[in-house]
Parts: sequence; structure tokens; C-alpha cells
Amino acid sequence: MTDRYAVIGHPIGHSKSPLIHAMFARASGQDMAYTAIEAPLDGFADTVHAFRASGGRGVNVTLPFKLQACEMATEPTARARLAGAANCLKFEEGGRTLADNFDGVGLVNDIQRNLACPIAGKRVLLLGAGGATRGALQPIAAERPALLAVANRTPEKAHQLRHDFAAHAPLQTGGYETLLGQSFDVVINATSTGLSQDRLPLPEGLFAPGALAYEMVYGKGLTPFLKQAQAAGVARVADGVGMLVEQAAEAFLWWRGMRPDTGPALTTLTVPLV
Ligand code: ATR
Repeated sequence: MTDRYAVIGHPIGHSKSPLIHAMFARASGQDMAYTAIEAPLDGFADTVHAFRASGGRGVNVTLPFKLQACEMATEPTARARLAGAANCLKFEEGGRTLADNFDGVGLVNDIQRNLACPIAGKRVLLLGAGGATRGALQPIAAERPALLAVANRTPEKAHQLRHDFAAHAPLQTGGYETLLGQSFDVVINATSTGLSQDRLPLPEGLFAPGALAYEMVYGKGLTPFLKQAQAAGVARVADGVGMLVEQAAEAFLWWRGMRPDTGPALTTLTVPLV
């Protein structure tokens, strides 16, 4: 029988996940179907229960339900608990609901494998202190950067992350003004400015020679952050399409027990950054 999976969010029309998983399933000969479901804002848990009752085996979860997904799981992984959010659920016998968060590992795999930029020994900066940063911190720290810093418009939120992650990732935290005089090899925009088109107050000299500027948002072309990086002389710029494909590959591995080749999906979904 065809195994059923879905991505649940609100809105969900834009999701590329059905396309990505269809490509993975076809290439690996897996008998599975993957659809997109829009849950009402006050009906995430009901939507998950209904999908499960109809034979669903697992779901991806996207905005704004990642926190609820972690909360409703009977067995969230340590990294999902640390992130306070899950983007993937797996339904097991006996009513068990496993939860994991593959966003951070997807980001790390994209940076290291697809963009050929090893994190070990590098100075890494995350801009923003919301859920996107929270999911990325532990997987980045596990690669042993020389420095892991978080800058945020509201510095208290960055300081809170330093406190919450103290046992997992020693963090330098502060407002944007504290970045003055420092430079970084990898700068990741995890704020929502990729969608709002706001400019970030990035000080001069922020990007080290040969730096990578990474925008977590995908499909928006050159966002203000990427334009700022280019104006500062950065030649290596990327958006989050690879993160999206790589987190999907981790979910597929978790559900199906096999790692798909991400190359064809990356080629299909990559839009030139102009
Ligand atoms: P997500 O879950 O996608 O990370 P979020 O939790 O709402 O979304 O976090 C959004 C992040 O973008 C926050 O770090 C926010 O900064 P504040 O904590 O100061 O609100 C950041 N952000 C949004 N708009 C911004 C802007 N115009 N300039 C700087 N930072 C901005």
C-alpha cells in the first residue's frame, strides 16, 4: 500500500516540499505519496490527528506550527527540544509521535556539502534571534566553529539564547553595534528581513575576505541582505533553497531509511540570484 506523508502549514500553497519528496520517492523507488495540507490557525493538532487516522505515516511542519509540533510529540529529540520547535513528525505504533528538527542540519549540510564551505575553525555569525536561529545553533556549534555569534535588533533575545544554549554552544551575543570591528567568514541571515525587504544595520568590514553570505529565505532573488553583502565585496552568496532540500532529505532518511540524492531537486529548484 502507498505510504502517505504531508506537509502542514498556514499558508501552504507556496510549499516546494511535495515536489521535492516526489522527486526523492521516484528516484529511490519508494511507494509513497506526499501532499500539502493547510491547517486552520487554531486547528493544527486536529489536522495532524485526522491525517494520522486516515493512514498517514508522518508529516513535515512549517510556519506557524513548528512550536506546536514539538509540544504535541510524545518523543521529541533532544535537538527539537533545544530548538523548542519541530519540523518533522513520525507516527509510530501505540500512539507514539516522534518529533525532530532538521532545519539546522539541513543548513549545515548545504553550507558544507553543496557550498563546499567547512564550518570548523570559521568565524560564524547568525543575524536574528528567533526560531530560525534557535534551530540552527546546535547543529552549527557541533561543527566546531572558531566563534559562533548571534546579533539581534533586540539584544536581550540574543542574550537569552546564550543562556539557553550554554551547555551546547558558547555564544557571543549582542546588538548589531557590537559587531563593529569584527569580521566573519560565514554570515547567515536568519531574520525575517528576507521577506520584509528591510535593511539590516550591518557595520563596515563585517565580511572577512572570501566570506559566504547566506540568506535563509529562498526564492526571493537578491534580498536586501544579499545585496548588502555584494556591495561589501562578497562574491559567495546563497539563499536557503539548499537548506530546504537538505532538510527534506533528512526527513526522507528518517521516514524511509534511505538517503536520497539531493542533486536533481537542487538543480530543479535553484533560481539564479540576480
Ligand atoms: P523566525 O521564527 O522566522 O526566526 P521570529 O521568531 O519572528 O521568526 O524572528 C524574527 C527575527 O527577525 C527576530 O530576530 C527579529 O528581531 P527582533 O527579535 O528584534 O524582533 C528579526 N527582525 C525582523 N525584522 C527585522 C528588522 N527590520 N531589522 C532587524 N531584525 C529584524
